[in-house]
Formats: sequence, structure tokens, C-alpha cells
Amino acid sequence: MASAPTRDDKFSFGLWTVGYNGTDPFGGPTRKPLDVVHVVEKLDELGAYGLTFHDDDLFAFGSSDAERQTQIDRLKGALEATGIIVPMVTTNLFSAPVFKDGGFTSNDRQVRRFALRKVLRNIDLAAELGAKTFVMWGGREGAEYDAAKDIRSALERYREAVNLLGDYVTDKGYDLKFAIEPKPNEPRGDILLPTVGHALAFIDSLERPELVGLNPEVGHEQMAGLNFAAGIAQALYHGKLFHIDLNGQRGIKYDQDLVFGHGDLHNAFALVDLLENGGPNGGPAYEGPRHFDYKPSRTEDETGVWDSAAANMRTYLLLKERAAAFRADPEVQEALEAAKVLELAQPTLGDGESYDDLLADRSAFEDFDASAYLGGKGFGFVRLQQLATEHVLGAR
Ligand code: GCO
Ligand code: MN
Ligand code: MN
Repeated sequence: MASAPTRDDKFSFGLWTVGYNGTDPFGGPTRKPLDVVHVVEKLDELGAYGLTFHDDDLFAFGSSDAERQTQIDRLKGALEATGIIVPMVTTNLFSAPVFKDGGFTSNDRQVRRFALRKVLRNIDLAAELGAKTFVMWGGREGAEYDAAKDIRSALERYREAVNLLGDYVTDKGYDLKFAIEPKPNEPRGDILLPTVGHALAFIDSLERPELVGLNPEVGHEQMAGLNFAAGIAQALYHGKLFHIDLNGQRGIKYDQDLVFGHGDLHNAFALVDLLENGGPNGGPAYEGPRHFDYKPSRTEDETGVWDSAAANMRTYLLLKERAAAFRADPEVQEALEAAKVLELAQPTLGDGESYDDLLADRSAFEDFDASAYLGGKGFGFVRLQQLATEHVLGAR
């Protein structure tokens, strides 16, 4: 039985997540809009510590300066009253008709200039609210038709945009880093920077790569058939896990944005184990917000919205508890040893050993009996996975 969430767990939610009104391509809203002040109060009550938002979630696209300011002030009031913080802010470059061919990479140069201005304005707001991470999800940065988009030019325009934003935060002295959120498709047929790997390579090409990392989302990698926990491990390996979007997805299909753990539970367990216990000394490998980017299903009423928000946090904490039990189980430790999981940390070459030394080592080749592996001892990976499964099920 996991304990109730507290601020120390660093759980955050997008305003657009609990605020999702049920609209999908086949039907309109099934729930009434939620006011930001109410959302902040409810999240506080449930034990979250942070609220995140797109500019357009807080004040509608096209709001006057006065309308925009009123909403910002209302949010600030609610933050002050509750102690909820805004760890991350992001920009909507996908809903308004002007962005139908994207923002930073629209074929229309005027749209690209407008998108940059919208983001710069929102960066100022993010800094004002003390956000440390600025997410860039390029939902409309893509195409449906190969002939319609020159991909290399589009990547160059993406680069130009991110380089400019890096200059801006540096010149302004903002303590703000960028996190690119990959997604393979939806709403575009194909989206630029579709996976963690594509985005990592892109980041490497930037003028200030140190300012830019990733905000991977569980469902997005899984929509591409990829192993999310493995992708997160690689992002951590490169020092690029700046933020994370937790949710659930059941296989390669439309972006489901289910509650965390309501998709691939095994992989969610591996993920929580990695985030919480995968650090160099067995501690957390990631210290940032545990951010939920899910959609309460359109079948639910407002009670269901808050139940589903609580479910995300509870499942995370249950998996954290299960992962601790897994790590502490002597049989698991023995199985890890038998599977040589720890041996992989040992360098393949000895200290100071050169390829000449390796070539001279008869035990590595001439005298090594590779044929003994036929019928030889197995690794016991299945046993290990079954132990993990039993811990997930609470059977151990
Ligand atoms: C999605 C995305 C979005 C982004 C968000 C941040 O489900 O397709 O996750 O929700 O995370 O818009 O910009
Ligand atoms: Mn999603
Ligand atoms: Mn997301």
C-alpha cells in the first residue's frame, strides 16, 4: 500500500490534461471547461506539486493583452494561495489555423516569424513564473506528403529557431532550459524529430546543445513500437533527460494518453525502477518533475477526472514501492548475478590493455571455446523477468 502523494514526489500535471473536455476527431466535448484556479486547488488537494500549461490553455489564442494579463494574475493568485509551482511551460504551435503547416517549419515564412514571436513572448512568461523547463512539442512540424516538405530545409529552420531561442534565454539571463518532445505522427502524418534518437542527433547539431534536452512521452515512443524505458536510459546516458511525460499507451495506434500504467505495465515498472533506482549509487537517476501528460477519457465526468489524476500518482508510487521490493529481494540479486547483469559494467578491455594485447591474448580467441555455448549455461533472463512480474503483481 503506497502512501499518499506529497510535494516531495514532484508530481505535476498539464492544465490541458485534467482540463481535456473530451473533444476528439469524431465528437465534441463531453465535459464543461475547468477553470485554472479550480484546477490548481484540486491538484494541491490531491498532493501534486506543479502545474504546467501551454499559453493557449491559460488564455485563448487571440486574447487581448488585458485578457491575457487577467488570466496570468488569476493563476499567480492560485499559486500563491496553494504553494503549487509552475515547473514547465510550453507553447501551442498546433491548434490555431495559422499553424496548419506547423510553426517553426511551416513552408510559409510569415508563419515561422509569427511562431517565433509567440514563443519568445511565452518564454518571458515562463521565466516570470519561475519555470525551469520550456517544452517544445512540434506536433504540426511535419507533413502528410513527401513532395510537400523539404525535410532538410525544415530541419534547418527548426535549428534556426532553437538556436535563436537559445540566444534569447542566454542574453536575458533566464535560468531556463529547453526540452524537445518527440512524437512519430499525429496530428501530422509524419512529424519531424519523431523519436528520442532523432531528437538526440538534432540536439547535437545545435549551437548551444547544453541548453537543450528531451521531454520524452511514454505513449509517443510506444506509438513507434519502441521500448520507452530503454529510450529513457539512453537519454539519461547522454545527460539529456530534462523532463518526462508519463502516461499509458496500448500498442501501435493513435495517441491514447491513458493514465500512467494503464498501457504497458511491465515497461512502466522498468521505467519507475530506472528513474528511482537507476542512479550511480542506486538512488534516483532523474530528479526532475514526474509530469503526467494524459487525457481523462471522454467517458468520465469531473469526479472521474480527479480520480484519474489521483490514479496516475498512485500507480507511480505503487510501482516505486514494488521496484524497491524487487531491488531488495535476495533472490533477485542472485538472479541478477547469475544473469551477469552487473558484469556488463566491467570494461571489455583490461586497464591499459591495447588491441595488440588483445591480439596476443590466446585465451580470448585461440583457446576460447565458443562451441561450449551450444548447450552451455543460459543467462536466466526469463527467470529474472518472472521475478519482476511477481513483484509487479505483489506476489513477493
Ligand atoms: C501529445 C503531446 C502533447 C504535448 C504538449 C506539450 O499528447 O501529443 O503530449 O500533449 O506534450 O502539447 O506541448
Ligand atoms: Mn501524447
Ligand atoms: Mn506530451
